[in-house]
Amino acid sequence: MRRMTPAAAAVAALAFAGPAPGEPREPPAPQRHRIIFDTDFGMIPQDDAYALMLALHSPELEILGITTVAGNWSIEQGTADVLRFLEIAERRDLPVYAGADMPLVHEPDEYARTTYGSWWSDAPPTPPPGGFAEKKAEALGAVQFIVDTVEQNPGAVTLLAIGPLTNVAMALRQAPGLAAKVKRLVIMGGAVAVLPDGAGNMTPAAEFNFWVDPEAARIVLRSGIPIELSPLNVSRKAAMTRAWFEKLVAADTPFTRLIRELDGPRYAEDPERVVFMYDQIAVASLIDPTLVTTTELYVDVDTNPGVSYGAALGFDRIWPGAEGARKMAVQYDLDWERFIRMFIERVTRPIPARPASQR
Ligand code: RIB
Ligand code: CA
Repeated sequence: MRRMTPAAAAVAALAFAGPAPGEPREPPAPQRHRIIFDTDFGMIPQDDAYALMLALHSPELEILGITTVAGNWSIEQGTADVLRFLEIAERRDLPVYAGADMPLVHEPDEYARTTYGSWWSDAPPTPPPGGFAEKKAEALGAVQFIVDTVEQNPGAVTLLAIGPLTNVAMALRQAPGLAAKVKRLVIMGGAVAVLPDGAGNMTPAAEFNFWVDPEAARIVLRSGIPIELSPLNVSRKAAMTRAWFEKLVAADTPFTRLIRELDGPRYAEDPERVVFMYDQIAVASLIDPTLVTTTELYVDVDTNPGVSYGAALGFDRIWPGAEGARKMAVQYDLDWERFIRMFIERVTRPIPARPASQR
């Protein structure tokens, strides 16, 4: 049998399902999503913080709770940062649940410690801007919060997961049958080689979130929850340049002041700087699915120790070794102009007046 070139495979994968490339998706019926926001949070300039800004200013999303997971930073740092962030955003009313401090199996090695991310760190957290928050995390842990919330609202809760999938996998393991009660799961993770722009960013084939916890990613992708995957293939269509950054910080709000202070110097130092907007795409696609183009693929994750550890693999059919993989919607293209205009318009909205108890 002749092997397909990557380009031919991409075309074949795109041909069998979903709208043709560039063809817009049907506008969805307007709906309000009740979401759990699962994040390896880090203060601006981290993409998780930008993604949360977008979510907080989107009336289509009702955030039931924020769950933290070790990834970009340690669990202590990520949790400290999101608590402070919510004070800056005047959203002290939103509960935060601290989650997994380590992946299910993956032990940090020299490569993990020196390449990117501090999920393995046990250093005490450094104070976020303005100091540590007065707001505290809830006593309940993230995994229990996910289980309880989904159990109490079967078919009504969407999980938005923009970090390693440790919390979600632990919830699924703890509560058999939970997967059938989750309405939908939108994941930022993976890089799918069969589609264009499918290289990894942590290793040649593996994307960071999946690489940090490949075993969790495999459990979650195989769970049967209806999944929309937002992999690096689509993130790479969303490059924030200085010109767009200037438009973002032209407004004067608490968010844009924070962005100017924490991200502005990096653009000043390097005017050619380009930053991919990973987690923001996952949020935006939930708000408006017509912003992205998807195709249906079976996607699985390599958990074998070795050169491909943590790599996502997608294909139009089950292949040997991937028995048990599920089909899901995989994003591979983006209406960049419409996305970035929506992102800037929402992030620069004034923070709405709220009752004192919620600020
Ligand atoms: O690979 C990109 C992902 O890794 C994003 O979620 C980013 O926040 C990091 O966690
Ligand atoms: Ca993230």
